[in-house]
Amino acid sequence: MKGLILSGGKGTRLRPFTFTGAKQLVPIANKPVLFYAIENLVEAGIQDIGIVVGDTGDQISAAVGDGSRFGARVTYLPQDAPLGIAHAVKIARPFLGTDRFVLFLGDNFIREGIAPLVATFRRGECDALIVLAPVPNPQDFGIAELQDGRLVRVVEKPQDPPTNLAVTGIYMFDEHVFEAVESIRPSARGELEITDTIQYLIDQGRSVLPQRVQGSWIDTGKMEDILEANRLVLEMLPARSEGYVDDDSRLIGTVVLEEGCRIENSVVRGPAIIGRDTRIVNSYVGPFSSIDHHCVIENCEIEHSIVLECSTLRDVSYRIEESLIGRYVEISRSPLKPKGYKLMIGDHSKVGMV
Ligand code: G1P
Repeated sequence: MKGLILSGGKGTRLRPFTFTGAKQLVPIANKPVLFYAIENLVEAGIQDIGIVVGDTGDQISAAVGDGSRFGARVTYLPQDAPLGIAHAVKIARPFLGTDRFVLFLGDNFIREGIAPLVATFRRGECDALIVLAPVPNPQDFGIAELQDGRLVRVVEKPQDPPTNLAVTGIYMFDEHVFEAVESIRPSARGELEITDTIQYLIDQGRSVLPQRVQGSWIDTGKMEDILEANRLVLEMLPARSEGYVDDDSRLIGTVVLEEGCRIENSVVRGPAIIGRDTRIVNSYVGPFSSIDHHCVIENCEIEHSIVLECSTLRDVSYRIEESLIGRYVEISRSPLKPKGYKLMIGDHSKVGMV
């Protein structure tokens, strides 16, 4: 079997992050969400992985490389324009050949992995397998309708959802999928939809096996979802310390200290991860926080947040909560008069003041 990960797309719901970076590289517990997908595939015994990339392809290939560090072989497949998930499958045909494959959307996160699902599909008793998860907001997903446990209909982001069962971004297909992606037409949003592809297979009498997700699944398209995925991963991480903690500091609960980080006169209450060469000084870092490498947190309190690499937070008087802070960000107290907020914030940023 092969793996096909989609890592293009514009990520409009994650602006301003996606103005400068790929949404699949936003870190969950200091590791890009895309890496979890690669690890899930390798863990399920799939080493031959194609990654479909768009405008951010250079960043993706710089981060992932040839896949050897994951125990995989990665082939990059450029997609000229984001014309839909089914379009990506179409252009990946030369890579996939006649192999059965797992299609994995690179912003989907499934904490318990996909090994049992892949084992089911490997038995060869169905032409496709789709993974379903109940969601509170079915209007935002492809939605499945079942009758007596059999899949009868899938519909993309319905206004009036027939069920709350979302089709997650993890799919398995055999080569019949190519006839489907060649036959369907673009949807109203101008994309070749994966839901139409699945519906085509159902209409042609192919066996499409619906499987409920076991464990936690998150589409990390929005900030709240990323914070939630971060929470889920931190909950499971074992404590580890490769950093320095001075005598005036306290670590409480499960804390991961990556190489060369320093905790000085501070309290870190886990689950939390502090990245390589980051300094936490006179501060409080609370549960569900991931601070990436080369950051400085000084005279601050922060919890349930993600801070990306090389950012500095200094002398902030209120606790920072439920925040996603980008790379090379500086937040500090300004000594300059007149006294007031001095902001340089990119388009589509969101700031909550007290
Ligand atoms: C895509 C699919 C949708 C699926 C979702 C899962 O939506 O079109 O059917 O439920 O992924 O993450 P998108 O996130 O591209 O809008």
